[in-house]
Amino acid sequence: MDFFPLVRPFVHALDPERAHNLTIRALRMGLSTQIGAPADDPVLATSVFGLSFPNPIGIAAGFDKNAEAITGAHKMGFGFAEAGTVTPKPQAGNDKPRLFRLSEDKAVINRFGFNNKGLEYFASQLNALPKARGVFGANVGANKDSDDRTADYVTGIERLYGLSDYFTVNISSPNTPGLRALQSKDALMELITKVLEARAAKIAEGQAYVPILVKIAPDLQDADVRDISDIALTNQIDGLIVSNTTIARPETLKSKHRGEAGGLSGAPLMGPSTNVLRAIYRATEGRVPLVGVGGVASGADAFTKIKAGASLVQLYSALVYGGPALVTRIKTELASLLKAEDYASVADAVGADHR
Ligand SMILES: Cc1cc2nc3c(=O)[nH]c(=O)nc-3n(C[C@H](O)[C@H](O)[C@H](O)COP(=O)(O)O)c2cc1C
Repeated sequence: MDFFPLVRPFVHALDPERAHNLTIRALRMGLSTQIGAPADDPVLATSVFGLSFPNPIGIAAGFDKNAEAITGAHKMGFGFAEAGTVTPKPQAGNDKPRLFRLSEDKAVINRFGFNNKGLEYFASQLNALPKARGVFGANVGANKDSDDRTADYVTGIERLYGLSDYFTVNISSPNTPGLRALQSKDALMELITKVLEARAAKIAEGQAYVPILVKIAPDLQDADVRDISDIALTNQIDGLIVSNTTIARPETLKSKHRGEAGGLSGAPLMGPSTNVLRAIYRATEGRVPLVGVGGVASGADAFTKIKAGASLVQLYSALVYGGPALVTRIKTELASLLKAEDYASVADAVGADHR
């Protein structure tokens, strides 16, 4: 049973940031609008960068900035949960309002600017999780006022090492001025070198290998795609997440909020982010695992990302419109689509468009 359609009018009558905070609080308390989510179809099980996932659909970063609702996300049926972006020091983010629903466009614009409670709080939340939990990734970033942004990413990984199954280095938020410049060749090379050194030091201390992913923007030129792909291949980065929100504003947007500054996500991002995913898959010859994110709202959308080259898929904005039962719907539909095209597993379908 899905009760979200009953509560949606009340939730959407609230200011979007308030509605979101209430959702996180409800998840923390174990409340849900959904009863009786079925077990995952075995065709959805997959293994990527050494981790096993019951299904390939994850909650994208930004939904749970402070790692407060990880158990709730797994209960909703997500195959993995990514929390953050967390910065070393707590920070308030930009002035409100900073989150806008573009209902006519099934889209969202946000300019939060990495509001979060900082690394110590994030770590305390992870320490309180049960030992047997679903796959979890920590998405790390840099403080707005930091003198050394590269050092902030290293600090995040060092502090959370051993508490997270994978790390995402987020260099693609449009809401921290200058952050996306870290995607340029020399800056990215320096950042990756430092981050990988930090991991090597942990491994030398006897800790386990933890995969490190890099999350990129959809607003990239062909030369950026080539540079990022080269750096990912030569440094053996464990994966790329494609993509973050876009600063572009497609002509098709109808909502009165379309002119707000910030990152656009949801349905209008599906095409552009999938195009970049495809380009990265081609440039890396399918040798770097990719996480496809941007505009996924159905099993068909998830299947499109997978065939374009994604080993895993994430979503956030569609939850605003579909509610928690969306996760079960997407998984059921994806399992049917895989079987209808005779794929024995998700892995079998990854990059099928390129063959
Ligand atoms: C309100 C909001 C906040 C977000 N915050 C973050 C963030 O802190 N870190 C990050 O890497 N991505 C963040 N994102 C981007 C999402 O993780 C995702 O890449 C993007 O929204 C595209 O997916 P979607 O169309 O399914 O929402 C945020 C997105 C939204 C809508």
